[in-house]
Amino acid sequence: MASIKPTPDLRPARINALGEFAASIAHEVKQPLAAVTLNAQACLHWLAQDPPHLDQARSALRMVLEASTAASAMVRSLHGMACQAAPQRTSLVVNDVVRDVLQLLRSELRRQCITVTEIYAPDFQLHADRVQLMQVVMNLIVNAIEAARDLHDRPRMLTLHTALADDGLRISVADNGVGIVPALAERIFDPLFSTKPGGTGMGLAICRNIVQSHGGRIWNEPGQPHGTVFHLSFKEYTLWTPSRS
Ligand SMILES: Nc1ncnc2c1ncn2[C@@H]1O[C@H](COP(=O)(O)OP(=O)(O)OP(=O)(O)O)[C@@H](O)[C@H]1O
Ligand SMILES: [Mg+2]
Repeated sequence: MASIKPTPDLRPARINALGEFAASIAHEVKQPLAAVTLNAQACLHWLAQDPPHLDQARSALRMVLEASTAASAMVRSLHGMACQAAPQRTSLVVNDVVRDVLQLLRSELRRQCITVTEIYAPDFQLHADRVQLMQVVMNLIVNAIEAARDLHDRPRMLTLHTALADDGLRISVADNGVGIVPALAERIFDPLFSTKPGGTGMGLAICRNIVQSHGGRIWNEPGQPHGTVFHLSFKEYTLWTPSRS
């Protein structure tokens, strides 16, 4: 008698994938939505002055618009990734992407009293999906903010660095926070792994997915003397030159 093969139950895998997708969306919209709230509050504050500070109100409102646009773009991008749609690659200047993300997080950095140092290489370009690269840089900076905000015995610092290294174009995000416990270091890129109350544990998993799909590498090392440094490196890049037309 022919043996009947049991049908593999795909439900757990599907539920798991759905859970990761939901966690990813929750994760990626959290920061832009926080930026919307902070800047909308700032806008109301400037309008309530007598006379109202219209220039400041206008720039806070502009930030609300940028953050809500970023949130929609990130949801679209995650949906695309879940459906395995091809990334929307264009030539983009890496320094501009880093500056744009920093701009979105300015109010949070100010609120947490974190001093930012920016060190930029000349304007190199990557052929990459802009929204996805923003997601990666944003997730790394948010982790750095979360590591630094627990500090009470030294100034809180964040350093963003773009540079040309032996292995290609690098973007580095360094904080002087508490650092990563060596015993957990191997698990930090695993989906749903988090040591934070309320953390989804999807930030670094999303980063690794995006970086690898762009042919890049992501890794971390202890900061000197404190904290953690995350590096991204991409082998293929070009130097941006202004068009003459
Ligand atoms: N800059 C950092 N300093 C110290 N630990 C870090 C840093 N970045 C990541 N980690 C560790 O890696 C874990 C996984 O990070 P990941 O961004 O994937 O998730 P999360 O930050 O915990 O949750 P979520 O991103 O949903 O808020 C963190 O819980 C933390 O233990
Ligand atoms: Mg995170």
